[in-house]
Amino acid sequence: MTPRDILIERVSAAFRRAYGEEPVRIVAAPGRVNLIGEHCDYNDGLVLPCAIDRETMIAIGPAHHGEIRSFAADFDDDSDGFSATAGVIDHAEADWKNHIRGVAHFLRERGIQPPAANLAIAGNVPMGAGLSSSASLGVAIALALSMHADAKVDPGDLARIAQQSENDFVGCACGIMDQMASACGTEGAAVLIDCQSMKQRAVPISESLAIVIIESGIQRILTDSPFNTRRAECEAAAEHYGVDALRNLDPARLEPERGDLDEACFRRARHVVTEIARVRRGIDAFTTGDTASLAEIMAASHASLRDDFQVSIPPIDQMVAMLAEKIGDRGGVRMTGAGFGGCLVAVVEKSLAEDVIGWVEHDHNRMAEVQASAGIYLPSKGAHLLR
Ligand code: GLA
Repeated sequence: MTPRDILIERVSAAFRRAYGEEPVRIVAAPGRVNLIGEHCDYNDGLVLPCAIDRETMIAIGPAHHGEIRSFAADFDDDSDGFSATAGVIDHAEADWKNHIRGVAHFLRERGIQPPAANLAIAGNVPMGAGLSSSASLGVAIALALSMHADAKVDPGDLARIAQQSENDFVGCACGIMDQMASACGTEGAAVLIDCQSMKQRAVPISESLAIVIIESGIQRILTDSPFNTRRAECEAAAEHYGVDALRNLDPARLEPERGDLDEACFRRARHVVTEIARVRRGIDAFTTGDTASLAEIMAASHASLRDDFQVSIPPIDQMVAMLAEKIGDRGGVRMTGAGFGGCLVAVVEKSLAEDVIGWVEHDHNRMAEVQASAGIYLPSKGAHLLR
């Protein structure tokens, strides 16, 4: 059985356990890893994430009790329910419940009113690791509930609904990248998203490359990290330079017009403009499998996140340095995601992938307090109906 078959069985069994019948349909939405373009999405910049072969599945069927009921196999079979018709959807205490309630709320704002339903949820995206388990949950719910309401919502809108729900219902000021990757991913490719025009396109990843994700084991919780402070600093920098978003700041103006901009905001701006340039350079390197360029571009991205955006932490820096030295010019490695713990991503020659895993699990873990783990991930298809 593949991990996907196991998950289908788990979500179906959860549905039967909760409701005593078979679901009508099952949908899935993947997690994501960002290859390059960190903290660029909420600055209207470019990002290059890819959907991964870990996903959240929702089994759904109709109901007569007038509620949208959910049953979460990964939260000790905890359950939730709210009226499918009452005007206002209240907040719940648990975040997982608010992801569902928030999506239902924003579907309604678009005139889509999902009728009463039974849902069961199960996933294999590691939670709190920086691989966007929340975004995959939001996108999966948006797809499941919109289909249940017989509404056709395109992937970009599924992503926006899930993001709105996170921003304004769950209370996390994330950008659009994670949801777009989860909604719009293509097998074998990363998704290049222009967060200004909101245009996206598939960027094939060379067959010669493997994506290795290293979970540092240091858990991060986005709402607790200084994520919101970084957003505010970027906005302050944009205001200083008189642009509506840092995307529109010409790199040539950075130094000469620095004026009295404080050091932190200046550094945030420098990270964003240089990172957007790295995305542009990275596209070709990922497609052609140019590992020497990847080594250089990803090292520069990590240094910028560490020194200018200041979202890395010493144990992650040490792991990146150790791996970069071992990988040499056969691939790149850097922290990925929001930062302050979470994951590293290495994109390396296929033949090197097992060595990278070995270095993490033996060489690194022998010396480290917190044990890391690593695995090979495949660029995968975005949210879709399974059956
Ligand atoms: C988190 C957010 C994304 C993005 C990244 C940093 O994952 O949810 O929108 O800002 O951090 O690139």
